Amino acid sequence: MSTQADRLVLVAGELHDLSGPDPEWPGGRRTLFHPPGAPLPCRDDVEALIPLVSQTVGETELEGLPGLRVVANYGVGHDNIDLEAARRRGVTVTNTPDVLTDATADLAMALLLAAARRMREGLDLARSGDWTGWHPVQLLGMGLGGRVLGIVGAGRIGTATARRAAAFGMEIAYWSRSKSEEIEAEAGARRVERLSELLSGADVVSVHLPYTTATRHLLDEAALALMKPGAILVNTARGAVVDEAALARALSSGHLAAAGLDVFENEPEIPAELRDLPGCVVLPHLGSATREARQAMWDLAAANARSVLAGESALTPVQASGR
Ligand code: DGY
Repeated sequence: MSTQADRLVLVAGELHDLSGPDPEWPGGRRTLFHPPGAPLPCRDDVEALIPLVSQTVGETELEGLPGLRVVANYGVGHDNIDLEAARRRGVTVTNTPDVLTDATADLAMALLLAAARRMREGLDLARSGDWTGWHPVQLLGMGLGGRVLGIVGAGRIGTATARRAAAFGMEIAYWSRSKSEEIEAEAGARRVERLSELLSGADVVSVHLPYTTATRHLLDEAALALMKPGAILVNTARGAVVDEAALARALSSGHLAAAGLDVFENEPEIPAELRDLPGCVVLPHLGSATREARQAMWDLAAANARSVLAGESALTPVQASGR
């Protein structure tokens, strides 16, 4: 007869260093670390899954794990999971909000500063051995004081980024589904009704929307054309919210001055046109990459799995209708 101790929690193998070799689960369930890069197995003894945000958990994967009760995503974004398919099967989906907000907002601010102050070109010049010395008009960038930062999506991370930018003297505007008391109170932000208005009025635009069918390529050729000449785009949310080919054209033509990108549509591929442009600062999806945030993400994902396995409510459930 099978007991709870025969049941498994399937954990992405990359999480081993954060989880330790033998994390504890209710009822003595055991951990099975899933080898990086391998497809998810088909087995009926898995009750909980802790995947990375790069792991697709769709109809096929759910069908292969018929005993599953919870998918505790290791990340705040959950576009890797078919929420509707999970709901139909009675599988709870959870994510890791809050614990990575500061880390991601710090990185958005770092990219904003790096793009505005042309750090990539400066680093290249410093390392090239061709620097001939201080020059009054060398690599002049954009000063941030008094500039308008347009926040696209005033959720937790957008709000935390706005707070930071306000401390640099930026004026904050935001576009969001609904009014946010937080961003208005914490960053003195003003809401604009239309995305087009935000884009045409901002010196820097920072993207903080989840990826959904509705936000795919929201910043397309036409939207990017609305941005001010010489403006800067920062994206720490999901690559596919921006049309990367259109962005590369906007940067190459000089319409946009610079971009700071942490996320890409088809990771780990970074389009060569973006990677090679001097005004484009690219990072390999490092938003939440602080020791503190990554450990807290594990702790929360594991706590969510434990709660559901113990028959209790999830701590941070994701609803099928949104983030
Ligand atoms: C997330 O959590 O969605 C990030 O992209 C990875 O931290």
